[in-house]
Amino acid sequence: MMNKKVALSFLLGGGLTVVILQGWPALSERVHEKLSFFATAVKNHDQVGAVAPFSQETGKTIMQESLAHVSAARSLKRRQTLRVLEIGPGMGGVSEMIVSFLEQQHPRYKLDLVEIDRDFATLLKEKFKSNKRIKVYCKDFLDFRARGRYDLVISTLPLNSCTFSAQLVGDIFDKLRACLRADGVFTFVEYVGARHFSRAYYRLKLSDEEYELLQGKAELLAQIIKHNAVSKRVVPLNVPPTWVYTCTFGSTKKPLK
Ligand SMILES: C[S@@+](CC[C@H](N)C(=O)[O-])C[C@H]1O[C@@H](n2cnc3c(N)ncnc32)[C@H](O)[C@@H]1O
Repeated sequence: MMNKKVALSFLLGGGLTVVILQGWPALSERVHEKLSFFATAVKNHDQVGAVAPFSQETGKTIMQESLAHVSAARSLKRRQTLRVLEIGPGMGGVSEMIVSFLEQQHPRYKLDLVEIDRDFATLLKEKFKSNKRIKVYCKDFLDFRARGRYDLVISTLPLNSCTFSAQLVGDIFDKLRACLRADGVFTFVEYVGARHFSRAYYRLKLSDEEYELLQGKAELLAQIIKHNAVSKRVVPLNVPPTWVYTCTFGSTKKPLK
């Protein structure tokens, strides 16, 4: 009886050790990525506009919604090439989710990543170097020269950051429209309550004139969502929780309430 107990404890202990040893590199890699992201975010906070990368849950929601609407917009066959653009991929957390969905559902995809931060872009090039379907461009999106139009554009740009003026946000959406096929789909994120929070926060920090400009941006984002969003999903499992808006520039959509 005693021997059985000892054997069982050895078995459980051994199993646990194997799980820990196998899981540790992946876990420590994730922790390392989060810390590196945080360090760049602190150094470059206006441009990065986040303290943590978007969660896997956010990536999943982005892809589920985007692909559902891409398929609805035109009858895509699996053998057709799906052209996807991601703006602001950071360290590539959402990009990995994009790749995993595309490999399954549209294996003939092409994915372009446009990232302004040089360190992030270097990391992305390393991360995806073995995937010939992915190209990384270290560029400001506004200076990016797209070769042909995309079926899907995904943005995790921090549009509510104070350095993103109403003019800049307007220019980004104009450029995005120019990059997209007429029946293309675009998806972007916005932290829950971000517009209300930044209004209250910057009311204390900005001059009246600057504050007016910020109000203009909030109004512009609200209009873009009202006229173009075909779906709006909340992702509670993100720090902080976030909205995922999927949109089309097509004229046939009914605006979301
Ligand atoms: C909120 S972070 C999102 C990062 C990443 N997608 C994730 O999953 O966590 C925003 C990213 O947009 C990038 N970015 C900011 N302005 C940009 C621009 N004009 N063009 C391209 N990338 C930009 C930042 O460097 C940063 O990596």
